[in-house]
Amino acid sequence: MIVANLKMNFLIEEMQAYLKIINNQISDYFEVVICPPAIYLHLLQGYNYKIGAQNVYWGETGSYTGEISAYQLKSLAVSFVIVGHSERRLHLKEDNKLINQKLVAILKQNIKPILCVGETLTERKLTRTMKVLETQITMALAGITKSALNDIIIAYEPVWAIGSGIIPSQNEIKEAICYIKKLIFLKYGLKLKVLYGGSVNQENIRGIMELEEVDGLLIGSSALKPQYFVNMLTLISK
Ligand code: PGA
Repeated sequence: MIVANLKMNFLIEEMQAYLKIINNQISDYFEVVICPPAIYLHLLQGYNYKIGAQNVYWGETGSYTGEISAYQLKSLAVSFVIVGHSERRLHLKEDNKLINQKLVAILKQNIKPILCVGETLTERKLTRTMKVLETQITMALAGITKSALNDIIIAYEPVWAIGSGIIPSQNEIKEAICYIKKLIFLKYGLKLKVLYGGSVNQENIRGIMELEEVDGLLIGSSALKPQYFVNMLTLISK
């Protein structure tokens, strides 16, 4: 599974040009999810990829100026929503409790949440990585029924690897993802998909995808150039 997080990029004509390039080139070899800025979600319908949103509000409808609900996203054929991205944790002060509310709202609409977790560089240096992952995951998943939990995808994104060009060693990725999978299995008796995200590019994509523990990727900057992105997909479909 490959998720492209386009973040807050592109004017309308740039988005249209982007889609023109990717629309006919994405084969169904992988499950590909494109997450554009919310204002462009309606432009993506009817192609060979799934549509993802980058954020959601936890209410369903009503007086919440500026917000968009999972109920509304559903009507735009959105099937995935990114939740708990480190940029939102940092700039919008989203905490684990709020992330939990969002997960509940998304699952209620039968949309699949992609829950991002990951440690900062300081936390890694202090050997707190696993503790941070445990707290983020258990607080985000609190109170969610086992059958609903099954729809959640986890993305392990070390904060220090996002947009930095630095990626963890294969061992570090393996270790963190194994830990996440084990935690979820022991706590909830479930096997959930775990993606890796942070500075994935044409040079490192194959190595990361070769890791047996990695079920897919969450790609930011490298997904912004459409042909580069399509070529990346070709590299791993061979
Ligand atoms: P990046 O972003 O690929 O640019 O590091 C990943 C993400 O933020 O999900």
